[in-house]
Amino acid sequence: MKSKKLTAVIGVLVLFLVVSFFTEKQDESKEELPTVGVLQYVSHPALDEIYRGIQDGLKESGYEDGKNMTIAFQNGQADQSKLATMSQQLIDKKADVLIGIATPAAQALANTTNEIPIILGAITDPVSAGLVASNDKPGDNITGVSDKSPVDAQFDLAIKLLPKASSVGILYSSAEENSKYQAAEAEKAAKALGLSAKSYVVPSSNEIAQTVQVMSGEVDFIYIPTDNTIANAMQTVVNEANKTKTPIIPSVDTMVEEGGLATVGINQYELGVQTGKMAADILSGKSEPATTPIYTFNTGDIIINEEQAQKLGVVIPENLKKEAKLVGAE
Ligand code: TRP
Repeated sequence: MKSKKLTAVIGVLVLFLVVSFFTEKQDESKEELPTVGVLQYVSHPALDEIYRGIQDGLKESGYEDGKNMTIAFQNGQADQSKLATMSQQLIDKKADVLIGIATPAAQALANTTNEIPIILGAITDPVSAGLVASNDKPGDNITGVSDKSPVDAQFDLAIKLLPKASSVGILYSSAEENSKYQAAEAEKAAKALGLSAKSYVVPSSNEIAQTVQVMSGEVDFIYIPTDNTIANAMQTVVNEANKTKTPIIPSVDTMVEEGGLATVGINQYELGVQTGKMAADILSGKSEPATTPIYTFNTGDIIINEEQAQKLGVVIPENLKKEAKLVGAE
């Protein structure tokens, strides 16, 4: 009897040892999976879509989180010191490839390493942000995707929808290098169409509501670059502008969905997919950052918020209606 019990106990022990040996083995192999470190600047619908696209782009290229690769994700919540610490944390985790979503995140990563490859996730202008030497030949450890907006097409669309407009106010945050570049482009485009243009620069999100109130009294419509601070407060901008029926022409689809009137925009999800694919190619050794040109999109989709058009009393020309993706109407 006793010996039978003993055998049973020993049997269980052996089984336990065997099982734990194998699970440990598995854990060990997991540790060796390549790591993709992702740093997102802040949460707003466009950047969230980009991150979703990045995961799918990696997957389409054969890298699935938890299976044959690990994603280490951090969100800096628009805080410069968090961005710096998080960049260091991703490097401490031995990330094989880093992805920066939005300019301030990419800059934080670039300040932390010049060895680990960095893939830019939707950076307006990598050169003026000091990230690469040139878009064609980045030269160092950085390449990726630019989401440079089709600004001229956006202004062409604006005056088709708002033919009586004679002035535009450009709203952006002084903290973002990416917006300065695009605001200058917007001023040029506006002037070429005979519009007067004035920039309204907010030092932080606290001044947005009041600035939009001022703009509403001074300009015929508001233009918004791909500015993360403004995108993060889009609801506030829309609420204030709607009080005086001032139309908003933003530069991305997600901001039209949130109450902007219309834009010609690059699909944010697709930006992410492209970023994920480029990260996969670097990870697999297919390409190297120094010799991989920055990927740019040269077309955008026309997107119009029909409900907002009705609210503002804007008539959408029939030909545009056919061409555009309409959102916001029941
Ligand atoms: N281009 C922005 C940057 O360089 C990031 C960005 C991508 C963005 N899509 C956006 C900002 C949409 C605002 C709205 O930082």
